[in-house]
Amino acid sequence: MDLIIKNGTLVDSKGFAAADIAVADGKIIAIGKDLPVPEGADIRDAAGKLVLPGAIDVHTHLAMPFGGTISADSYFAGTRAAACGGTTTVFDFALQDFDEPLPDTIRRRDALAAPEAAVDYAFHVAIKDVRGSLLDSMEDAVAMGVMSFKVFMVYDFGVTDGVFYRVLEKAKACGAQISVHAENNELVNMLTARFLAEGKTDAWHHYLSRPEFVEAEADIRAISWAKSLDTALYIVHLANKEGVAAVTKAKDEGYEIYAETCPHYLHFTNEVYKREDGRNFVCSPPMKGQESQDALWAAIRRGDIDTIATDHCPFQSYEKDWGKDDFTKIPNGCAAIENMYPYMLSAANTGRITYQKAVELCCENPARIFGCTEKGFLKVGKDADIVIYDPDKDFTITNDAMHSDCDHTIWEGVKLRGYPVQTYSRGRLVYDNGTFVGQAGWGKFIKRQSRK
Ligand code: URP
Ligand code: ZN
Ligand code: ZN
Repeated sequence: MDLIIKNGTLVDSKGFAAADIAVADGKIIAIGKDLPVPEGADIRDAAGKLVLPGAIDVHTHLAMPFGGTISADSYFAGTRAAACGGTTTVFDFALQDFDEPLPDTIRRRDALAAPEAAVDYAFHVAIKDVRGSLLDSMEDAVAMGVMSFKVFMVYDFGVTDGVFYRVLEKAKACGAQISVHAENNELVNMLTARFLAEGKTDAWHHYLSRPEFVEAEADIRAISWAKSLDTALYIVHLANKEGVAAVTKAKDEGYEIYAETCPHYLHFTNEVYKREDGRNFVCSPPMKGQESQDALWAAIRRGDIDTIATDHCPFQSYEKDWGKDDFTKIPNGCAAIENMYPYMLSAANTGRITYQKAVELCCENPARIFGCTEKGFLKVGKDADIVIYDPDKDFTITNDAMHSDCDHTIWEGVKLRGYPVQTYSRGRLVYDNGTFVGQAGWGKFIKRQSRK
């Protein structure tokens, strides 16, 4: 045995349990009361602390070429920050190049990630091109352990409705899981052009070019195609009230429609775009109005939001400043990889949700939906990805205390109740009371089980 965590309170989606956890060779080997401590085992006393599964962030953009630059966090910096926020697995988006078979996309991105990752990682492949045999190469990607793919309905690499439909069909046939960034591209482009022509170029007009209905319409359309094919669909970064209603309806009808939202939609509203530093909050979809935020929290409590993920895609201040006088020049995306789990656990600690719900959203559901069989649960046989959480520790987020390479954070000054004090990745301590103690290259590529 390498490690024993004693006297803690274990948390899962069903409840609490007072138990010790024993770890050997990166796996949980025993859970129980008063486990014996063999000689040489590292002992950690977790009395007064919660012991949780490491979080799984299924939506990150590390070192991603986007918005005329590359997102600020490398695979090392991003996974270092993840570890320090209690996230022990990240799912990054590998964006296909035109003409590129999907296994090549995976290999190209893995060559960057493997030497750098400080926690375990997986890929979703974002599909741009399905010409010729490229669509069939989804099967090869699934065989490599990458069973999840994403289509964008927006941006210059977004797919047409026809391509999206064919991707859904193919996924159903080969046991893959499709995610979608749903916004109506035509409307975004038309509204953007109109505002620019009218000289309306501040960050508030980023919001007005992609308001609630622009996202809702695309959610409803995407859901209707998945329903018509009777196949699963996962909506990323859901941020609007009508979209929530569409997800609820589809679930009630018995369809396998999943929804993810992000901490920034739960904490900030579109008011941020009226601030002097509004450009720093520019992401797509943008933060919405209070009614949408309320609908997201209600859907979380009802069980109609399945996961929380970050959409971590930060850009440096000088890059955000490109759009000081023109919102279309602001690279879209914000930081959150270190904030997600502490934020959701703080929401539990202060009574907004339960700890059980936080673990379900951040650990168990992501593992289940994306075929990540070794992660997400504190159970014998699973990877020893473990977080020790101090519910009594107050923490104020500052960029100085974060472990990302980005020079600012939209979370600056946000106060949290409770904070992770240690993170273990496959039994190895990677974060200890404010300090990253892991290592580049420790993180492993996680092969996942297809839906078949
Ligand atoms: O603004 C965002 N969300 N940037 C990252 C790319 C995406 O749309 O997920
Ligand atoms: Zn997106
Ligand atoms: Zn994203």
